[in-house]
Amino acid sequence: MASQSRHVLRSVHVDASVAIASVAAIICAQLVLRFRCSQKSTSTRIVGAAATENRSEPCGSAMCGLWLRSHNCYGSIEGHETSSAGVRTGVPVMADVPLYDRTYARFGLPARQQVRHETYGEDLGQNSWLTVDEWNAMIGWITPRHRSRVLDVGCGSGGPDLYLAQQTGAQIVGIDMNADAVSTANAAAAESGLASLASFQQADASTALPFADGSFDAVFCIDAVNHLRNRLRVFQEWHRVLKPHGQVVFTDPVVVTGLLTNEEIAARTSIGIFVLSLLEEDNRLLDQAGFDLLRSDDSTDNVATVARRWLEARAVRRQELEEDEGPTAFEGMQQFLTIVHTLAAERRLSRYTFLARVR
Ligand SMILES: C[S@@+](CC[C@H](N)C(=O)[O-])C[C@H]1O[C@@H](n2cnc3c(N)ncnc32)[C@H](O)[C@@H]1O
Repeated sequence: MASQSRHVLRSVHVDASVAIASVAAIICAQLVLRFRCSQKSTSTRIVGAAATENRSEPCGSAMCGLWLRSHNCYGSIEGHETSSAGVRTGVPVMADVPLYDRTYARFGLPARQQVRHETYGEDLGQNSWLTVDEWNAMIGWITPRHRSRVLDVGCGSGGPDLYLAQQTGAQIVGIDMNADAVSTANAAAAESGLASLASFQQADASTALPFADGSFDAVFCIDAVNHLRNRLRVFQEWHRVLKPHGQVVFTDPVVVTGLLTNEEIAARTSIGIFVLSLLEEDNRLLDQAGFDLLRSDDSTDNVATVARRWLEARAVRRQELEEDEGPTAFEGMQQFLTIVHTLAAERRLSRYTFLARVR
């Protein structure tokens, strides 16, 4: 009897794993589509190519068409990647909801500062699910010392890095794809007298990093790895630029841990390119890239709490933010934060925080 129940439990577990893996495979196939969308468009024109590394062929994926139709999209599907790690790079996906462009363009807008203060309790200048308590804990894991060299991948406007530089005296380089984020970060470093410790540059972190081998003692990547194509190559690049036994701390805020509809996926990924993963896949790719995993903590509660506070704080300042962002972008961001909160609160998409060391 006991062995029968063990067998049933084992098969339920296997079925659940297979179901989640299948969902993830579908998600990955959909999310790496390159697309153009118009909410106003009523027609659907799909010219597809399912691309592999060396060839292109007509896209036969029903999911491609289904996903595009459900979003009233038109245009060309140039190709999609074939695994959660991805195999191709290409032109950036156009975001339906321009969260990063609008936010970084005027990061210091008083309404935006007030929103950050109410959202995070302490405004570090972050633009993620990161709270100061969490950041202090992560810094404690790495213990950067005076003159330690630290790379922050997807640094945004650099606020957490300036805090880190101030606390530890570490030398920090931040990279981000967004030009406004980088100029805001460099201006903030100059204003706070930390420019000799922290500098920021524009770079696409999904491609080869512009640094020599063994340049850094530590790499941070907070809520940005999910925007980078080809996770194995990304991890390999982090490994390459780290010194022997160097450490990496990163958060993956879109780990699939439950069932998701295509509408939910589209709303959750409306701010740009997304790669959704499974916890096992992050672990496997870290190992393959040459890291030893030291810890992986479930930090989903941060997302649920921060998203709710962010949503509410923005709603209070609707008028100022609508004037800055425009009503469509404002509404899009509210919808984005709503779905982020729902999926995190229901633990269907989870956030994990990883600490790993070069083997
Ligand atoms: C959620 S924000 C996090 C920013 C910052 N780490 C923080 O905690 O405030 C994600 C960041 O990733 C950046 N990003 C997206 N794609 C990128 C890429 N391919 N290369 C570098 N940065 C990228 C975005 O511009 C954005 O600043």
